[in-house]
Amino acid sequence: MEKKRIGILTGGGDCAGLNPAIKWVVKTALDERLQKSRRIQYEVIGIRDGWKGLVHPDADADAPASRTLVLTEEMVRTWDRNGGTNLGTSRTNPYDPKNNRSATVLGNIERLDLNYLIAIGGEDTLGVASKLIKEGVTNIVGVPKTIDNDLSATDYTFGFDTALNIAMECIDRLHTTAESHHRVMVVEVMGRHAGWIAIESGIAGGADIILIPELPIDIDEVCALIKKRHSRGKTFSIVVVAEGAQFKQGTIVTQEEKLDEFGHVRLGGIGNTLADEIGKRTGYETRVSVLGHIQRGGSPTAFDRVLGTRFGVKAVELVKNKKFGRMVALSGLKIIDVSIEDAVKQLKTVDMDLYEIAKVFFG
Ligand code: F6P
Repeated sequence: MEKKRIGILTGGGDCAGLNPAIKWVVKTALDERLQKSRRIQYEVIGIRDGWKGLVHPDADADAPASRTLVLTEEMVRTWDRNGGTNLGTSRTNPYDPKNNRSATVLGNIERLDLNYLIAIGGEDTLGVASKLIKEGVTNIVGVPKTIDNDLSATDYTFGFDTALNIAMECIDRLHTTAESHHRVMVVEVMGRHAGWIAIESGIAGGADIILIPELPIDIDEVCALIKKRHSRGKTFSIVVVAEGAQFKQGTIVTQEEKLDEFGHVRLGGIGNTLADEIGKRTGYETRVSVLGHIQRGGSPTAFDRVLGTRFGVKAVELVKNKKFGRMVALSGLKIIDVSIEDAVKQLKTVDMDLYEIAKVFFG
């Protein structure tokens, strides 16, 4: 039987659903029936820490052991229940304009004898995959993940549902304390430049105002809505704000000015600024809860486990059928494949129809 090696990596921010996807890539590729029918014996090589594992595959000061390992069925048996990524991740960008290491990656793919590569990631990780394809590494298949749910060409990415449910539960909990103290509670959620987590957790958790990056914040309007609630006897309010939201007048609120290797600023901080403004302008006692990385942690929801499983199985099917340069995706209830290049072309932002529904319940 012919032997073929499939490399698999997870890059960018971790999220729930990555481990189920890895598990099902391994299980599907090592399935004996598949191997016999194709007369190919697949071996799955886990690449640790995203693209960093292909820049520095060997043990070094940061990695006590090699960044590659052979994945067996026994190793991944229980991974569908695990949060995060057991392969590790990083925000390493081989195409960082200040430190381009793409030639090293190309060399290492050859040196490690990787016939195929399955890259699991969001716009950054898959953006690198798309560039590698243009440089001739054509045997790549993509799998979309991110809590932000901002990848075009798929209805959902795994990680989003888990993050959404965590945020919703936090909003539920904040309701009781906000109501007891007659306070305004500002909840800052993640999502980068898309407001998916904010809008859906806000609707599900019954937020009184939801602020998203897609629409600039009008602070006068926000305060007027809160005051109107108070005048109707509702002496507490829950305001959900996405970390990427911006005031109508003013610049984006970031934690740090420094850019990462993909050119992103670290977001966060809008919640505090907003709470200060609301407190000052309304006179109501206001507090802020920044949910942060809690949204990325912990075990995946059933939805994310199932989506990770279906994406993992489909990714191997694409390898088997030599459909490279493709990304697995969810379209309605079906798993399909789309071009990686198309998927990373533009961000998928919040559908304004959904925002209109949310708006009905504001105030
Ligand atoms: O892209 C996922 C995400 O969690 C964003 O929502 C957030 O802005 C960012 O990653 C945080 O990144 P880091 O884990 O590097 O702080």
